[in-house]
Amino acid sequence: MAKQVVFDEIGGPEVLRIEQVELGEPGPGEVLLRVDALGLNRAEALFRSGGYFYQPSLPGSRLGYEAAGEVVALGAGVTEFAVGDQVLTAITGEMSADGVYGDALRLPAGDLVHRPGGTDPVTGAALWLSYSTAYGALVEKGGLRPGDTVLITAASSSVGVAAIQTARHLGAIPIAVTRGAAKRERLEQLGAAHVIALDEGDLLEQVAGITDGRGAQIVFDAVSGPGLADIAQAVAPGGLLIVYGWLDPRPAPLPLNWTLRVLGYNNLDVTGDPAVRRRIRHFLDAGLRAGTVAPVIDRTFDLEEIAEAHRHLESNSQIGKIVVTVDH
Ligand SMILES: NC(=O)c1ccc[n+]([C@@H]2O[C@H](COP(=O)([O-])OP(=O)(O)OC[C@H]3O[C@@H](n4cnc5c(N)ncnc54)[C@H](OP(=O)(O)O)[C@@H]3O)[C@@H](O)[C@H]2O)c1
Repeated sequence: MAKQVVFDEIGGPEVLRIEQVELGEPGPGEVLLRVDALGLNRAEALFRSGGYFYQPSLPGSRLGYEAAGEVVALGAGVTEFAVGDQVLTAITGEMSADGVYGDALRLPAGDLVHRPGGTDPVTGAALWLSYSTAYGALVEKGGLRPGDTVLITAASSSVGVAAIQTARHLGAIPIAVTRGAAKRERLEQLGAAHVIALDEGDLLEQVAGITDGRGAQIVFDAVSGPGLADIAQAVAPGGLLIVYGWLDPRPAPLPLNWTLRVLGYNNLDVTGDPAVRRRIRHFLDAGLRAGTVAPVIDRTFDLEEIAEAHRHLESNSQIGKIVVTVDH
């Protein structure tokens, strides 16, 4: 029997419960995975509370996108993995049916990628979604170049930290935005060239001061909401506003700015392309080797503490990734 985290109604972290399920043998094209660690994402808290871009199928919805583990059995026709391979999940389906929170999974081989050599399960669980989102948006879609300035909102989030490191890896200049000055020092340590704390002054004045009035070539925004009007004006002429998250669900006005290009980014669209997946793997390998890709683990929890882990996720006190470890 395997443990699986499910929920039967929309609500707070307390709706999460662990149930025992029979996974069965892997069918054709499937793999059985022992899960060693889970990476938590804001998407899962939004999904659990009904605020994600699609709704859960209830009761008994699964959740979770990111797991790191070991292949323990193969179904017929699986040739790209072997028993004992260390892997990560890179699922492109929807969470109610394919969610990965649990201690074992039966899933299509196409939903796995090999874990970069030398990464332990906790680091592995913090890699795929955050870094593929940062790399996919900034490089594949945004065309970020060395010397470009990139303004990163919610910079302490797991994607935000990955975006700081991705920009640094490329020789671009990351400006981190946080709501409170408490995270300033840590964001500087993590590679932000400048930190804008919104409780210390006006966003646009601070961006103008840092960029000599030009603005940022790319603004990478996870927040949206009413603040988008200001954020959009921080884009340099000819630059790009990438909106990839809606942490503030209120309506988001755009200013009249005729040179502004706006891109709504969905990582699942980008990572579904095998050629992009291959480039992400190479980007991660190169970054891990150079030390420029270095997942920041905020805190770990046990699987049995999954509700507590979600409470911490929603506290907004974290910097980087929250990981759940699984004992066997
Ligand atoms: N489009 C895609 O394909 C894609 C892929 C991955 C993630 N996402 C989205 O990216 C966002 C970040 O995800 P994550 O898992 O990295 O987040 P996370 O680790 O949970 O980080 C959240 C951080 O964002 C800031 N924040 C939270 N609520 C906010 C609000 N209402 N206004 C402004 N800032 C707020 C807080 O930092 P401060 O208090 O320091 O500001 C908080 O620590 C989410 O919206 C998620 O859905 C989208």
